[in-house]
Order: sequence, then structure tokens, then C-alpha cells
Amino acid sequence: MSDTLLTKREAGVLTLTFNRPEKKNAFTHAMYEAATAALKQAATDDEVRVVLLTGAGSVFTAGNDIGDFMEHPPAGEDSAVFLFLKALVDAPKPVLAAVDGPAVGIGTTMLLHCDYVVASERVRFHMPFVQLGLCAEGASSLLIPRMAGYALASELLLFGEPFDAATALRAGIINKVVSAESLQEVAAERARTLALRPAEAVRVTKELIRGPRREETHATLAREGAKFIERLGSTEAQEAFMAFMSRGSKK
Ligand code: COA
Repeated sequence: MSDTLLTKREAGVLTLTFNRPEKKNAFTHAMYEAATAALKQAATDDEVRVVLLTGAGSVFTAGNDIGDFMEHPPAGEDSAVFLFLKALVDAPKPVLAAVDGPAVGIGTTMLLHCDYVVASERVRFHMPFVQLGLCAEGASSLLIPRMAGYALASELLLFGEPFDAATALRAGIINKVVSAESLQEVAAERARTLALRPAEAVRVTKELIRGPRREETHATLAREGAKFIERLGSTEAQEAFMAFMSRGSKK
């Protein structure tokens, strides 16, 4: 589909691998577009029972590419990043994730829309939105308080410090922690198992779990999105992006 998003279809499982390891799988426009197209195709393809998200090179993703944020900031609800999030929220089939290494920004918030998440014991989650002069996205302002309670949600989103697998388990963001060596096999086994369950029963059950809150989730995506776009143009965000981009020369 594209070099930066690898797709593999096997035994009813569509695996999407974020593949930009030299940039820690940071998401570009092209990656969002390819992932959205793959999710939409999976929704209507009877051969696909389950989608599995993962990252190449022992990294899930460093989140949105910061250079892309500066050069092509999302301008509205039809921007590539929002269309990807909407496709994930609307995915009718189970979406699983195998997460290793850094999972930053949308790398953490996309997991809130997954149905089963396996993480390695060395995973590092991070939602540094506030440090970057931005704000919560991915419906995290709705879902994390609901999943983790206000205390932990506020801590993770306001301080924006990295957190480990144990904290993510406590927050209800992930299901299972395994060794880095067994991560892909454990996730593949869970995906294959779910792919063998009666497809319609799986679909109806996912809809019963997610359906009643979907409208609220979309409304939150839109509300956060509008604020996020405003924040992207702020001096706070521009300064934080410049600091990140000029880091290379100081390394
Ligand atoms: N956007 C653009 N480039 C990124 C990136 C991002 N989000 N994350 C990493 N990269 C690039 C780095 O600039 C570096 O490029 P270079 O080799 O050309 O200098 C390369 O990927 C490797 O990253 P590096 O920081 O050297 O790796 P690390 O292992 O020391 O740290 C991270 C990995 C993910 C912890 C760190 O890169 C990071 O914090 N990235 C920013 C994450 C972020 O703020 N995302 C936005 C969330 S909204």
C-alpha cells in the first residue's frame, strides 16, 4: 500500500505496520491516509476479521511528525489525522495493537479505540500535548477520565510525562504486558483467535460495547480538534516545535 505503512493479510488478520523506523515511525500525512484507506477497506472485506496495528523496529510510533505539523498543520475535520481517528472510531471489526518502545501522542491515544492491546514490558507511553503547547486529542479528554478516573487522567494529560506499562494497565489503556521477545507472537495469537470466532457475533458484540458512546466520541474528537488546530498556531506550540526540530544540531 505504501512503504511507510506495510500491510499483511493472513488467516483473517490484517496487520498494519507503521514503518518509518529511522524517524521512530512518526506519522506523516501519507501514513494517515494509507492507514485510513486500509481501515475502510477492512470494514467491507469479508476476508478480514481482525485488524492488528504495530510498529517496525521495536517502536510503536513517535506520534505525529513534528516537521509535518509545522509544514502542513491539519486545518479542519477533513485533515488526514482526523479522518484516520474517525475511521478507527468507526471500525466495525476488532482492532488489536502490539505496542513496543515509544508510543507517543496519537501513538497512545489511538489505543483508546482499540479492542485489545498487548504491550511489551519496555513500552513507554507519552502524551506530551501540554509540553508541546497543544491539548488533548484522539478523544483522550473523554475516554481517559472514564477509563482511568479523573486523578490519573489529569496526571497523565496535564503533566504529560512518559509512563510505563504498569501505569497503562492501571489506566485501563492496555490489556496485557509481555516480554519484548514474545510481543508479536502473543498479539498474533490473540488476533488469530479472535479471527476464528463467529464474525457476526464478534461484530455485534463490538457494536454493543462501543456503539452507545460513538456519537459522544465523535463529538469529542471534533471539539478537541478545533482546539488542537488553534493551539498548533500558538506561539507556545511553535516554540516547542522549533526546540524539537533544532535539537539535532545540539545532539
Ligand atoms: N516528528 C519528527 N521526527 C521525529 C519524531 C516526530 N514526532 N520523533 C522522532 N523523530 C526523529 C528524530 O528527530 C530523529 O531524527 P534524526 O535522526 O534525523 O535526528 C529520529 O526520529 C530518531 O529520534 P530520536 O529522538 O533520536 O530517538 P530516541 O530513541 O532518542 O527518542 C522519542 C525517541 C520518540 C522518545 C523521541 O524521538 C521523541 O520524543 N520524539 C518526539 C515525540 C513527540 O513529541 N511527538 C509528537 C506528539 S503530539
